[in-house]
This record gives sequence, C-alpha cells and structure tokens, in this order.
Amino acid sequence: MKIYKTAGYEELSRKAANIIVAQITLKPASVLGLATGSTPVGIYAELVRRYEQSDLDFSELTTFNLDEYLGLSKDDPQSYYYFMQQHLFSKVNMPAERIHIPSGKADPADLECQNYEQAIKVVGGIDLQLLGIGNNGHIGFNEPDEFFEKTTHCVDLDEKTIQANARFFSSVDEVPRRAITMGIGSIMQAKKILLVASGKSKQEILEKSLYGPITPAVPASALQLHPDVTVVYCE
Ligand code: GLP
Repeated sequence: MKIYKTAGYEELSRKAANIIVAQITLKPASVLGLATGSTPVGIYAELVRRYEQSDLDFSELTTFNLDEYLGLSKDDPQSYYYFMQQHLFSKVNMPAERIHIPSGKADPADLECQNYEQAIKVVGGIDLQLLGIGNNGHIGFNEPDEFFEKTTHCVDLDEKTIQANARFFSSVDEVPRRAITMGIGSIMQAKKILLVASGKSKQEILEKSLYGPITPAVPASALQLHPDVTVVYCE
C-alpha cells in the first residue's frame, strides 16, 4: 500500500488527479471506477482543467460509478447521476454510452444490481477504482455489517450515513434510506485502488481502516488485502 499525506485539499486533488491522468495516458481505453461525495470534487475539477488545457482525452474510457440512491431519478439534483454530470461528464469528451451509474429508479432494483455487476465483468473489470471513505468506514455504500457483501446490491443506509449526507439535502427527512452500491467484492476486484480522505474528521476512521483489524464492521479495512492500493489524504 502506498500512502501519501498532502499539505492540504488542493494538493490532494492534484496528486489524485495525477494518478488518474497517468492511468488514462498509459491506457486510453481504461475502465475507471468513480466515486461521489465532497472529497472527489476537487479531483474532478482538476481533471476538467487538464482536459481543457492539455490533451487529456476521455473518448475511449468506460466508467462505472460506485453507487446511487434508490428512489432518486437522474434529473434529481441530489442523485449521483446528476453529481457526475455536473462535476465531470458534461465538461469533458466522455461518451455517454460508456458511462455507467446504477439507476435509482430501477424496478426491480435487484435485477439492476445483477445487470450492473455483469456489465463490469463484460468489459473485463475495473482498471482503477477511485474511493472516498464514510465516517463509519463505508466505501461506496457498503455499510458496517457482519460480513463483506461481494457484489452490487441494495442496501439500507446506516443512521450515521443518513446524518452525514443530510448536509446535501434541505432536511434529514429527504435523505433516501436505501441505495444501490457495488459490493466489497466488486471493489476488491479492481486492478488498482485510489482511496482519498480529507479533513481531521476522517483521520480516525482512516487509521482504523488501514492499520486496524480487517473486519466488515469497518468495510474499508478490506482494502488491506488488496495488492495495489494508493491512499492520498490530508488533515
Ligand atoms: C457517500 C458516498 C461514498 C463517499 C462518502 C464520503 O456516502 N456514497 O462513496 O465516500 O459519501 O463522502 P465525503 O467525501 O463527502 O466525505
């Protein structure tokens, strides 16, 4: 595991963007796993800047997002689909047909999960997976549990997650209670993983995840078993 501590959020964003740019440069037809949350916002802004100012090219990429709230449609400003359009996809030359985000409106949602997992397999798996980390150690929306979920699945969100994500909604009651997320197994099959964490509030859970016991009670602790993880963090 490579662990880089940066001086602040800007450097974190640049360093993580460098790793993604290197991946795209070395393999233009890469499959990227992408994440939402506030931490990757600066990384996406940096990627957009490199696209505008250099020859960074998204045209051959395929992307899979980690998760989506169940019940929200693509045009809901709180959906992760909307987030990705706003911060990245609408600003770069990413082909719409190769963007994958679970549908929050899928019915039945279980079928959507199976199809999503299958779609990742069909393209040969994820080359580089970007991850944030929740205050409770979740990655994607894999909440603390008694076992590691293998594949893409529906999940009831943890009370901690609902409270933490309420800041993006006008009230806590509006936060969806369920989501679709790639499983820990889906994430662990990515060839490379890039985990980013920003701020003092994440330091304790980051430390627990990287150095504590490997347990589904701290979902990110599974990453200790992955052969190619890079962590970029700042306090
Ligand atoms: C959400 C996402 C996670 C993300 C987490 C942390 O719950 N589902 O994938 O890692 O938030 O977000 P933030 O970066 O805003 O702390």
